Amino acid sequence: MTKQIVTKGVITVAGLGTRFLPVTKAMPKEMLPVLDKPVVQYIVEEMAASGIKEIIFVTSSQKRAIEDHFDHDRQLESVLKEKGKYDSIKPLVELIDKLRFFYTRQSEPLGNGHALLCAKEFIGDEPFVFSDGDSIIDSQVPVIKQLLDIYYKKNASVIGVQSIDNKTDMTKYGNVYGTKTDEPKIYKVEKFLEKPSIEEVSPLGLIVGGMRYVFTKDIWPLLEKQGRGSGGEIWLADAANQLSQEKPFYACEYEGKYFDTGNKLALLKTAMYFAKKEGLLD
Ligand code: UTP
Repeated sequence: MTKQIVTKGVITVAGLGTRFLPVTKAMPKEMLPVLDKPVVQYIVEEMAASGIKEIIFVTSSQKRAIEDHFDHDRQLESVLKEKGKYDSIKPLVELIDKLRFFYTRQSEPLGNGHALLCAKEFIGDEPFVFSDGDSIIDSQVPVIKQLLDIYYKKNASVIGVQSIDNKTDMTKYGNVYGTKTDEPKIYKVEKFLEKPSIEEVSPLGLIVGGMRYVFTKDIWPLLEKQGRGSGGEIWLADAANQLSQEKPFYACEYEGKYFDTGNKLALLKTAMYFAKKEGLLD
């Protein structure tokens, strides 16, 4: 089987962001800042640094600011040049120039699986990478690149996972079950289970923290027939669980620190981490 180079990425940003209301009434939650960058820019940077060339956002009517953010504003760029302040925007301009951006709408927030399915026509039969729009992973090597390295070896879907040893904490996340492989930190996935009871947590200690996947085209038929799950939503984790039972599917315990930004306290903690990293705090 020939291996295809992965150049396309999907980021889902169509959720309602209810945990941040009222700020998210007219402002996308994925545009909330971690210091001077919106959350979603960290994810786009991770994809670009992993070799992705085209990104499709699955978006909604409330999320136009994301489209504006990843587009040139020539007037602003020339004003900043005149004022000697161009350096403040230069990394973003360079990021925009590296990538092509596409947008499609999820007309109703029916879940992250349904959101991903909205990108199917754009992706076609190619393998692709996927990230949610509200998790940041700070790492030496971009996490998506770490997963792609495994994809190129195995020619199969790959998920990024983390290992934790506190069983109570494990019950708060999606758990990943399977077997170790000959390679350190690489596992063959047999099952995913969302927020299991303490008796049922994964013996491998693996959880899904920050959604990062490489998918082959095999995910599409499963997503298409995936019915609504908990909360009446169509969940990507349910289709991924099915995929792991039908096709080879690997988990890569990535090197990196995962930050959720989907609720107030988590966003604040994320900002504190990056403020310390940048030397803004003691
Ligand atoms: P979340 O469930 O954390 O986001 O989805 P949310 O629904 O916007 O947040 P709350 O619970 O109302 O506060 C994770 C990511 O998946 C996207 C979200 O935009 C977010 O980036 N998402 C979620 C979709 O694109 N569509 C959906 O139907 C659900």
